[in-house]
Amino acid sequence: MKPLKVALCGGGRTGHLNAILFKQRPDVQVSMLTHNPVVIDQHARGTPMQAQLPDGSTLSARLDRLTSDARLAVEDADIVIITVPAHARAQPLQTIAPHLSTCKPVYIGAIPGFCGFDWLAESVLADRPNLVIWGMKDVPHTAFELKPGRSIKMGGGKSQLYVASHARESGASRQHLLQLLTRLYGPCVTLLDNYLEITLTPGNPIMHSSVIYGLIGPYGQWHRKIFPKPLCWWTECSELGAYFLERMDQESQGLCAVISQRLGLDLSSVKSLKEEIVEAYGEQIRDRSSMLSILRTNQAYNDILAPMVPADNRAGYVIERESRAFNEDVAYGLVLLVEMARRFDLKVPYIEEVLNWSVSYMQGLRDSALDYFPRHWPRSA
Ligand SMILES: NC(=O)c1ccc[n+]([C@@H]2O[C@H](COP(=O)([O-])OP(=O)(O)OC[C@H]3O[C@@H](n4cnc5c(N)ncnc54)[C@H](OP(=O)(O)O)[C@@H]3O)[C@@H](O)[C@H]2O)c1
Repeated sequence: MKPLKVALCGGGRTGHLNAILFKQRPDVQVSMLTHNPVVIDQHARGTPMQAQLPDGSTLSARLDRLTSDARLAVEDADIVIITVPAHARAQPLQTIAPHLSTCKPVYIGAIPGFCGFDWLAESVLADRPNLVIWGMKDVPHTAFELKPGRSIKMGGGKSQLYVASHARESGASRQHLLQLLTRLYGPCVTLLDNYLEITLTPGNPIMHSSVIYGLIGPYGQWHRKIFPKPLCWWTECSELGAYFLERMDQESQGLCAVISQRLGLDLSSVKSLKEEIVEAYGEQIRDRSSMLSILRTNQAYNDILAPMVPADNRAGYVIERESRAFNEDVAYGLVLLVEMARRFDLKVPYIEEVLNWSVSYMQGLRDSALDYFPRHWPRSA
């Protein structure tokens, strides 16, 4: 079989875990583009990368190439996977674009592909017809406790992986994409009809922002207060946070329904957040009776800390303004939802309330998904 050349952009948790998993497959060559000198140094010393699986076993791999040089990382790649957060994707895309092959199809995707990766890639990779744009709905497994260049822990995995391509891609390209991803992940990959099924699936953007708003927003019990100790995201989620999450989930479903109806698209694969969580975690949730109980009693969510930093000049902690819950989920997730709703004259007051407060807590948006969201959408959709 012809070797499959995979290039991963981003040497973080998701990048490490997927690189190790791919190297377990026959005839797969893996390169990684990273700016982390520790990862490069470990590779140069011959240190194997290890993944610790939930059952206690270990997988080991030695990548074929590990470099901070974009050309070396991607020049012969068949498939490129961006694994950096949504707010940091534009830079690696721009850096690798001149070095991607022009002589063969190159499948360029993001894991996870939320926050409208198809629109970003289209804006950066216009006039490059051999590049096939795709995204995966979510990460295949959670990944945590990274020791750069050495080891990563694998958390719970998804039984099904959902993938979509940019609307511009042909049926033949889509089928080939499915073959490539099946070679990497096995037969659990399903191709969705429309990229909007990824973009509209509710997830971190509404989850993180609502919980923070419920804690420290104007009606939260911690408003303008200092937390005496770090707090768990989900097991200590406030009732108010769960209330806003449920409302935002309803508005997100309403947006999906309007888009489906007005554009004549079948978006029935997009489920409510509650359904998504219950399906993903099943028996790990002790009490499924409400959003609050689902969040508080999901064992998979135990011990996950909210993003906090020590307070200035005082003992205790505050929610970190520079956290990904703002830079990624608010600026690239919520902003996109509100703008999509605005284009359909749909009111999403709860999402807007949380967005507006979050932006003021962030002290304004530096950049956002509006930098690439097509100005004409949905006209050409
Ligand atoms: N880890 C999980 O279990 C998990 C679960 C659900 C969703 N996700 C999503 O998966 C994506 C990647 O998450 P991750 O946990 O793998 O991230 P991570 O461990 O923090 O790694 C992200 C990598 O992105 C690169 N990067 C470039 N600019 C960055 C910036 N401004 N901020 C942060 N990273 C930057 C860095 O790569 P180099 O230093 O190598 O260049 C970094 O190592 C995110 O969208 C996240 O929301 C992750």
